[in-house]
Amino acid sequence: MATRVYECLKSIGEKIIENKDFLTDLDREIGDADHGVNMARGFQGVIEKVAQDDPDIGAVLKKTGMTLLSTVGGASGPLYGTAYMEAAKVFAGKNEVTAEDFLAGLDAAISGIQKRGKAEKGEKTMLDALIPARDAYASALEGGADIKSALDAACKAANEGIEFTKTIAATKGRASYLGDRSIGHQDPGATSATMTLEVIRDFI
Ligand SMILES: Nc1ncnc2c1ncn2[C@@H]1O[C@H](COP(=O)(O)OP(=O)(O)O)[C@@H](O)[C@H]1O
Ligand SMILES: [Mg+2]
Repeated sequence: MATRVYECLKSIGEKIIENKDFLTDLDREIGDADHGVNMARGFQGVIEKVAQDDPDIGAVLKKTGMTLLSTVGGASGPLYGTAYMEAAKVFAGKNEVTAEDFLAGLDAAISGIQKRGKAEKGEKTMLDALIPARDAYASALEGGADIKSALDAACKAANEGIEFTKTIAATKGRASYLGDRSIGHQDPGATSATMTLEVIRDFI
């Protein structure tokens, strides 16, 4: 149901807004101290603009992506915006989310981020949470898990991804200007991406 997806996005927004200072502080260490501010502004927009009565899940996600694109700014705005817009295509005309649909949506989101940002896993970005999460989700499904347990596996992998970002230097985005001095700090985008997955897991 599009309404449920709207409510889930609202919860994601609330979580991001609640963690605005935390995300901004992480970005202060290796960036320009705006990730939480950027994301909170974007999701405030999503909460205001995405309507409860949007006709289908694709429409809800598309509006979310467009709002993030136009309001978040920074590197993460276009990246998260693209992620939701690409996921929207998977859900065009749909009114339910199966476990397989979720994988297809996550896959499309990651491809969109990679196309736009030209980053791979291991460059200390949101992809270090999202790619392992996608892989863990996919293998859990293959092993017969339901959506809830697959999302549990995804969240575990995303949190491990955050830990991994502490051990590597950034080679993409603003943090890459610091080179090896970025080692020891967790990536803000990997953190907001993991929060997103955790809200989705808790919502289902
Ligand atoms: N090329 C990229 N691909 C994927 N994610 C990226 C890329 N560049 C930056 N990021 C993500 O964006 C986050 C920073 O977002 P933000 O602070 O909002 O933007 P900016 O770096 O422009 O200030 C990083 O922590 C990282 O996860
Ligand atoms: Mg920043």
